[in-house]
Amino acid sequence: MTSRPCLDAIEHASRDEITALQTARVAATLRQAYANVAHYRRAFDEAGVHPDDFRTLADLAKFPFTTKHTLRDNYPFGMFAVPREKVARIHASSGTTGKPTVVGYTLKDIDTWAHLAARSIYAAGGRPGMAVHVAYGYGLFTGGLGAHYGAEKLGCTVIPMSGGQTEKQVQLIADFQPDIIMVTPSYMLAILDGFRAAGLDPRASSLKYGIFGAEPWTNAMRGEIEHSFAMDAVDIYGLSEVMGPGVAQECVETKDGLHIWEDHFYPEVIDPETGAVLPDGAKGELVFTSLTKEAMPVIRYRTRDLTRLLPGTARSMRRMEKITGRTDDMLIVRGVNVFPTQVEEQILRFDGLAGHYQIILTREGRMDEMTVQVEARPECWGTASDEQGRQLAFEIKELVGVTAKVEVVAPGAIERSLGKAKRVIDKRVM
Ligand code: DLL
Repeated sequence: MTSRPCLDAIEHASRDEITALQTARVAATLRQAYANVAHYRRAFDEAGVHPDDFRTLADLAKFPFTTKHTLRDNYPFGMFAVPREKVARIHASSGTTGKPTVVGYTLKDIDTWAHLAARSIYAAGGRPGMAVHVAYGYGLFTGGLGAHYGAEKLGCTVIPMSGGQTEKQVQLIADFQPDIIMVTPSYMLAILDGFRAAGLDPRASSLKYGIFGAEPWTNAMRGEIEHSFAMDAVDIYGLSEVMGPGVAQECVETKDGLHIWEDHFYPEVIDPETGAVLPDGAKGELVFTSLTKEAMPVIRYRTRDLTRLLPGTARSMRRMEKITGRTDDMLIVRGVNVFPTQVEEQILRFDGLAGHYQIILTREGRMDEMTVQVEARPECWGTASDEQGRQLAFEIKELVGVTAKVEVVAPGAIERSLGKAKRVIDKRVM
């Protein structure tokens, strides 16, 4: 293993060391969950398994999954393994319908999280003393506070801007000269527009590293952002149920997928239909078991995110491939499976089209119709962008396999998200 700079020696540990640590930690987590969370005791009993049945990591497959429904059914604090008084902080993920899913952290959990977020920022190129502009939203969403605590822990100067107020974002970046920005990739494009609107050259900005996540984004989008800002753009992954940002991080030196911080999270990839564990390299749904969480351990949490596990490169911990989508944002249009990221990839091949897009689904009679609305780049708005729109429809048919109507719209016409972009508007009557 080549020795690359990292924050913790464990990032270069041997596979044997990692496996031994994970085995001990899974065993402890199963016991902790069974002893302290009524749901896990019931679910294990119903499945006829006991923490003592766990000897090697392969035994974990005998234990039942945890899903978003499990968390909702135990709303608000039923999944906590410690009394509420020991919980130092609550976060929640909004979801589009129904009750939010609530997660809790002890002070030690917050410290672990800050440490892993710091490790992530370091792997992205961050170093103590750098200034970090945080434009993930602060609040119940884990993005803002997760990034904030991580950057502080690493020894950086944090600018806690949160999302929104694009003009002000641009002004503060110009005035405070941060080295790093942490924000959703879709909102980064809005900030890019803001730079241009203010007459500032984004390539001349102080930003050297962008740490982007919270939503799927493609390598084509990476190219767009890196070129526009003359920066390195890397991927950060996480989810509130498992912790928040910093579960996995792409290393700036390789940019080849995200290293899962396997000393704290045990990953599995399963067949989403059957629940069977798949071998490394096979694509399926990512599942996590937490290894060190106190307030809310999770056992085999089904993320709905689709990826595959790959061997380590810049670090010895395994990587997950950049996420293409979630089981629940896969569109089925006339029988063809489509992910918004596949459309994004095609859009960004055209120099006259911008990365602001939306997919609108309607139903005409019994047929599903897919319309891709995409903004023209300001300098190409008009005939050139119309021609590229026609070409795009052709490429989507050829390469994604679905017939789509493409509407090229004026720069600024598509509503900007302040956080996670809403890529799909489904107007089909179900
Ligand atoms: O989005 C945590 C986070 C904040 C991650 C900031 C990275 C940066 P939730 O709101 O609970 O937590 O949403 C989690 O977002 O299951 C994925 O579907 C998606 N997601 C998160 N990071 C990525 C990524 C935060 N890098 C859900 N690529 C996850 C693709 C991502 N999807």
